[in-house]
Amino acid sequence: MKNFKTPTALPLLFYVLVSCAQTQPKNTMEEAHGHTHYPAYTGVSAHKLIFPSAVPDRIIVNLTEDPAHSVAVNWRTDQSVAEGYVEVAKETHGPDFLLEGNRKRIKAETQMFENENIRDNEPLVKAAYHAAVIDGLEPGTTYVYRVGDGLDGDARWSEWFQIQTPKDDLAPFSFIYFGDAQNNVKSMWSRVVRKSYQMMPTVDFMLHAGDLINHSEANEEWGEWFYAGGYIHATVPSIMTPGNHEYNKGVLSALWRPQFNLPNNGPFKATQETCYAVEYKNMKVVSIDAVSLQDQEASRQAQVQWLDSVLANNTKKWTVLTMHYPIFSTAKGRDNTVLRESLLPLINKYKVDLVLQGHDHTYARGTVTNQDEGLTVQEDAGTVYAVSVSGPKMYASQDQEWMQRRGEFTQLFQIITVGQDTLSYEAYTPLGSLYDAFDLQKDSNGAKKLTNREAELPERFRKDFVGEE
Ligand SMILES: [Fe+2]
Ligand SMILES: [Fe+2]
Repeated sequence: MKNFKTPTALPLLFYVLVSCAQTQPKNTMEEAHGHTHYPAYTGVSAHKLIFPSAVPDRIIVNLTEDPAHSVAVNWRTDQSVAEGYVEVAKETHGPDFLLEGNRKRIKAETQMFENENIRDNEPLVKAAYHAAVIDGLEPGTTYVYRVGDGLDGDARWSEWFQIQTPKDDLAPFSFIYFGDAQNNVKSMWSRVVRKSYQMMPTVDFMLHAGDLINHSEANEEWGEWFYAGGYIHATVPSIMTPGNHEYNKGVLSALWRPQFNLPNNGPFKATQETCYAVEYKNMKVVSIDAVSLQDQEASRQAQVQWLDSVLANNTKKWTVLTMHYPIFSTAKGRDNTVLRESLLPLINKYKVDLVLQGHDHTYARGTVTNQDEGLTVQEDAGTVYAVSVSGPKMYASQDQEWMQRRGEFTQLFQIITVGQDTLSYEAYTPLGSLYDAFDLQKDSNGAKKLTNREAELPERFRKDFVGEE
């Protein structure tokens, strides 16, 4: 409907009627190509989300390779800020962290950056991106940090954000996993990320399984993503793996590396900050760049070889992979053969516990060894695969043998709690209702038992809301 041409005289009346009808907010949901779309809001106020100022925005903390002792921070300003600084101190009961000697200042790496998203008629955006790693931290400690230009006064600094390093022990920790946010992120993803934080304010980190936005270069959409998460992005460290919407014609979004500060321990330069591994207490998490793996032979070979060596040397009890494209799709006709044939042998060989994915805009969770759907306890469970979606764009799916729980037309976030011998997984809706849950128990020989837990909601299907296709 966006592509109306200037009307000629004859259909003018029709055009006017349609145009007027469009201004009525009676139904903001459109059905097209079997998918649910919500028209994006564009307007003058959206530009506030696009342009930087001298005051830091898009502030985000990312996990490093050593989360107990360091955290990466990244933010954006306009180009009048030529140098960026982080100040950090141990949190105190009062303002005493401000006293001389209590806080440390770190100079960031600053890069000038410009980006023009012609596809969406966005203006040229000139920005300065600042990246720093706060290191030398003590485990299990609350710190405060702020980012700014280093000058006196608070005007061009952020507020002080609290962050907490994990304890150097094996006490359980939690992270939240999000499938595709992607569309109408300010309007409709915001409440999902906020509800997740409300339900688990002590969450240790967040994991985004790709398609955070819809158009890789769209500054407005990235602005919406940072707006929706607000101070949560600056408080809870996150990691993200890129989806096909972070790519355009084989090229990663120009904004990805400037605006995030993700680990750089992957196989080669082309997958810097997209394919990497982090360790969090007794868990290893690996981000696979599924898009470049599937599209580029050199990337496929490099990532497969690298993953083999990473998993061969893995000493952690729990192993989680995240990638955008699913190994097993929720829908027929969305099969990712190259990805599966490349990675499934390694997933099986190294007995990966959990694979967290997106892309299909539906929900499904299960195991390949799922012999009997509905089985409450599954001995020798093998790898659990999950596909989820957190944004409002919804597809249909088909029931398949590997699925133990399925869902459509439901925005979800997953709280995953990892202990010494048990990993608990809970999927919630924006109402905070439990949609899916299971526990994995692993003994000292690596044998795994999966126990399905009862959900609060029946399985939801798209046809029950928008009719049959
Ligand atoms: Fe996708
Ligand atoms: Fe997507």
